Amino acid sequence: MRKSTATDASSSVILAVESSCDETSAAISKNGEILSNIVATQAVHENYGGVVPELASRAHQQNIVPIVHQALQKANITKTMLNAVAYTQGPGLLGALLVGSSFVKSLAWGLQIPLISVNHMQAHILAHFIESPRPQFPFLCLTVSGGHTQLVVVRDYLAMEIIGETMDDAVGEAFDKIAKLLGLPYPGGPHLDRSAQQGNPERFSFPATSMPELNFSFSGIKTAVLYFLRDQLKHNKQFIEENLSDLCASVQSTLISMLLEKVEAAASQTGIREIAIAGGVSANSGLRSQLQVLATQKQWQVYIPKIEYCTDNAAMIAMAAHYQYLAGLTDTLAVSPNPRLKFGSENND
Ligand SMILES: Nc1ncnc2c1ncn2[C@@H]1O[C@H](COP(=O)(O)OP(=O)(O)OP(=O)(O)O)[C@@H](O)[C@H]1O
Ligand SMILES: [Mg+2]
Repeated sequence: MRKSTATDASSSVILAVESSCDETSAAISKNGEILSNIVATQAVHENYGGVVPELASRAHQQNIVPIVHQALQKANITKTMLNAVAYTQGPGLLGALLVGSSFVKSLAWGLQIPLISVNHMQAHILAHFIESPRPQFPFLCLTVSGGHTQLVVVRDYLAMEIIGETMDDAVGEAFDKIAKLLGLPYPGGPHLDRSAQQGNPERFSFPATSMPELNFSFSGIKTAVLYFLRDQLKHNKQFIEENLSDLCASVQSTLISMLLEKVEAAASQTGIREIAIAGGVSANSGLRSQLQVLATQKQWQVYIPKIEYCTDNAAMIAMAAHYQYLAGLTDTLAVSPNPRLKFGSENND
């Protein structure tokens, strides 16, 4: 239930909370400047090879009070100085989202200040406005994370349009699932990246699926790797150990070429030359360096976030909340989280 509130643009001190998946995070922003950003990563999931939703909710419950306390303390801000509180409304795990939303709603009620609901995927993109250099509008953003792969035209802080997305798995999911097949610990993406840096990307060849228009598909490569490994392991039980870095480099290079092919097509279709990447997979060293190379060839201006702002964090939620606050976009306490929240959808009713 979104409402329009007259907000004081000259003063926006916002506490933002992120709890959509397995990171509990709180940040404070003042007039769009991030004063603190505390992130607690939940190690409990490592034992299960993936995020266990029930355990994520319990860990958020344990973490949220100390994390918010630390964020306030580091920013040297007291609760009474806050002008608004913000939280991730979705997309994400419902139980995890409920912890953040309930906590923040109680604060909004107790302090009698506005509540701001933020779309997590829009926030990943707005992480680019935390620090300079900031992209110029309109820019193209390739958002690549654990749950999403999207090509977005960003016309303004709050005006974004998805022009391409995955039809099945997200690229982060492909990284993680293939890493698991290779026996790497969870979350596999960063481990696969590290091993790929020592390997030969041309040693093995995996099929790069190309979907119509600006869409992606990552389920085929996962199955191709599964069958390839199964066949190789029949002849040599040590195949993975003996070839790990070449396997990682070959998989990573195929995934990156699938991503960059569509970025190139989107840039040519839209004529936009300001190109950004966002989300957890934008921490990938190969994607970062290959995008730079392509940008030099194409004369694009590229924007690559600092590693700490690639994966989930509350600073990006605070940034999105700052622009929503300036636009007077706040919510009533009747709002609730939406695990499948879409861009531009009017909350969750
Ligand atoms: N260096 C890296 N190389 C490849 N993948 C990486 C790297 N670092 C992180 N990732 C991947 O990023 C993903 C996590 O990103 P993020 O925290 O943005 O996702 P999420 O919040 O779980 O999903 P979403 O944002 O879609 O809701 C995981 O799949 C992880 O493996
Ligand atoms: Mg995320």
